[in-house]
Amino acid sequence: MAVQRTLSIVKPDAVGKNVIGRIYSRFEDNGLRVVAAKMLHLSEDVAGGFYAEHRERPFFADLVGFMTSGPVMVQVLEGEDAIAKNRELMGATNPKEADAGTIRADFAESIDANAVHGSDSESSAAREIAYFFASSEVFSRA
Ligand code: PPS
Repeated sequence: MAVQRTLSIVKPDAVGKNVIGRIYSRFEDNGLRVVAAKMLHLSEDVAGGFYAEHRERPFFADLVGFMTSGPVMVQVLEGEDAIAKNRELMGATNPKEADAGTIRADFAESIDANAVHGSDSESSAAREIAYFFASSEVFSRA
């Protein structure tokens, strides 16, 4: 399996609950390494640009409103099959449908406030990583 990078966001609900470290432990305990990270309070423009592909969806305004409601932790995760591995650790978009033991089952309340984001494909990962990080800000294992 190939080593990949993926873009992960700990969303405002999870930052507010003070569980950044517990979520990072899930990554580290499952073979994913944090190779870049920053805490940001997203503007409407930045959040809207990040979710541009969902601009026509009925929940777009709610999604941008939520993602700008407080600070987020944005990180790049690196590891074998990192994109799928991170999605597996996150669980289903709706926490009520997420498998037991996943991040969303354990830390999320609702489909609006669902604790984490993770890139869903190699092309999304490349776009999303470049959206938040310069290549000089990403540090692979030496
Ligand atoms: S997709 O494109 O069909 O796979 O859509 P999905 O992954 O389900 O959702 C895309 C992002 O929108 C968020 N979402 C919502 N936000 C607010 N309200 C509602 N009803 C809602 N439904 C979906 C969802 O959490 C996804 O955000 P990210 O950050 O990508 O996980």
